[in-house]
Amino acid sequence: MRAVIESLPGSKIREVANAGIGREDVLAFWFGESDEPTPEFIRDAAARSLRDGETFYANNLGLPELRAAIAGYVGSLHRPLGSERIAVTSSGVNALMLAMQTLVGAGDEVIAVVPVWPNLTAQPEILGARVTRVSLRPEAGAWRLDLDELLAAVTSKTRVLLVNAPNNPTGWTLTRAEQQAIVAHCRRTGTWIVADEVYERIYFSGERALAPSFLDVAAPHDRLIVIHSFSKSFLMTGWRLGWMVLPAAVTESVGKLIEFNTSCAPVFVQRAGLAALARADDFVPGLVQRLKACRDTLLPLLVALPQVTVASPARGLYAFLQIEGHSDSLALAKQLVVDAGLGLAPGVAFGPEAEGWLRWCFASRAPARLVDGVQRLTRFLRL
Ligand SMILES: Cc1ncc(COP(=O)(O)O)c(C=O)c1O
Repeated sequence: MRAVIESLPGSKIREVANAGIGREDVLAFWFGESDEPTPEFIRDAAARSLRDGETFYANNLGLPELRAAIAGYVGSLHRPLGSERIAVTSSGVNALMLAMQTLVGAGDEVIAVVPVWPNLTAQPEILGARVTRVSLRPEAGAWRLDLDELLAAVTSKTRVLLVNAPNNPTGWTLTRAEQQAIVAHCRRTGTWIVADEVYERIYFSGERALAPSFLDVAAPHDRLIVIHSFSKSFLMTGWRLGWMVLPAAVTESVGKLIEFNTSCAPVFVQRAGLAALARADDFVPGLVQRLKACRDTLLPLLVALPQVTVASPARGLYAFLQIEGHSDSLALAKQLVVDAGLGLAPGVAFGPEAEGWLRWCFASRAPARLVDGVQRLTRFLRL
């Protein structure tokens, strides 16, 4: 086995979950998904496809009609684009890995903005690249990027800049001006930007409730790959469906690479994706409202606890918090499971920069669960 595979870190969230094995009553907020199942109209489309016998291999880059629908959807949110820039993938994490396989090899330098969902930084390491971490920092609870520090780190030796915004776990988001500065800088250094924008619509401010995207500021031929997923905006985590927005010149090569990874996304899953996009305009805003209600239930309760600092603003599916007097987030998360029956993700799972923090996924059909969770935390803190 390659040494890098042998030494892959195990999931720290899983380690916390294991501490609760045998306890029936743990309220789990550790994973990044809602407890609400995929809407019926999406499940129906997949069932219909299976009933119709759509059980065969399909195009590497996705069904032409799904690629066109994705291009239409992305174009309606950002600048118009054609389906020759779209590759359908078997999840967002698969799209990220395909981007990495397309761009980096052994010894290449990747700069990653961190803390971040650990899969982003593990993938280039699996491929033998060297990952340099540029850290966001909390200032009065809000995580901030030092843009000058990031730009100084990205040089002509940097193959890829990896950035996830809105960020899991901190909620930090790039501004349009920062995106413009990054694009201009990366044009000079010849660096590819891989932008993970899977949470772009789980954004609770502004008229359009849409996070700034690199697609709004980059030219079609820029060295930019944007990563997307059906998981978060359509409650489709278990389906494994995502997409990449690519410069047209690399799409065919990515199609060849998909052949060697998964060959194609399953057709019935793609049909589900088509159904989701067809009703995106009525479904997504309603989902975002429900998620906002969850956030607005949880946050004031947490903010009212004297020992707790909450990162602001909370975006995506997560509240990110710190509890005074606790610096070992893994130990604290395990203790919360065992002593309070409260399941949170330890900050250190997202990198040493987030040590001492905890991530709480607030996406739930039953906001009362969140209230129960806070009561458990309150008892734990003996308030
Ligand atoms: C930042 C980020 N990117 C990508 C993904 C991947 O989503 P999926 O593989 O379910 O499409 C996740 C999932 O949690 C995520 O948090």
